[in-house]
Amino acid sequence: MARDLVKDPGKLRLLKERPRDDEAIEEMTAAAFGPDRVHKTVYRLREDLPPLKDLCFVCLDSKNRLVASIRNWPILINEKWPAVMLGPLSISPELRGLGYGKALMWHSMAQSRMQGHSRIILVGDPEYYNQFGFRRDLCLNLQLPGWVEERRFLALELVAGSMIGVHGMIGKAKVRKKRR
Ligand SMILES: CC(C)(COP(=O)(O)OP(=O)(O)OC[C@H]1O[C@@H](n2cnc3c(N)ncnc32)[C@H](O)[C@@H]1OP(=O)(O)O)[C@@H](O)C(=O)NCCC(=O)NCCS
Repeated sequence: MARDLVKDPGKLRLLKERPRDDEAIEEMTAAAFGPDRVHKTVYRLREDLPPLKDLCFVCLDSKNRLVASIRNWPILINEKWPAVMLGPLSISPELRGLGYGKALMWHSMAQSRMQGHSRIILVGDPEYYNQFGFRRDLCLNLQLPGWVEERRFLALELVAGSMIGVHGMIGKAKVRKKRR
């Protein structure tokens, strides 16, 4: 079996993303999604806006190499419903298919709820994200500010019923200016 040949990476450490992880995350994300990724509609919601730092996580292997990352961003639906936009999620190629993606997803979703969020939106493969409860029907009344492959536009209720009546255009969350 192919999986028997995979080298066991040993224990991985899961921690909050640190500023110094940025370069390695960009490299891994570029390798996973290609150079065109920055032209995708979701990137328009991330421009000039930092991710939710308490909802960005990395995994390090025993040699402290970054092998997985997940990021989440604040968004606002129709200027009134706050939500989390999940992504990108990437796992180092040699460690794919071993359950680390799932582990990071469940961790990130649990943390989102613990931090008071009630809904998550993402654009990704439904074949992968359906297993976590993401559904196409929950965002039939939502729009993104650009083209998106409809079937990949998905939502999850962290609180039952939190997508009921939610409709309209997804925009960037308003960034609170720091008081001087
Ligand atoms: C997609 C990705 C994040 C998944 O992480 P992973 O650690 O490899 O996956 P996991 O081991 O947690 O999950 C494996 C399960 O998901 C399935 N799976 C993995 N990638 C999938 C995909 N793109 N589509 C459908 N199913 C997928 C596997 O078949 C496996 O199913 P099983 O549990 O029934 O055996 C990772 O492979 C990655 O970074 N890929 C590059 C980016 C990418 O292709 N993204 C596409 C999603 S937007």
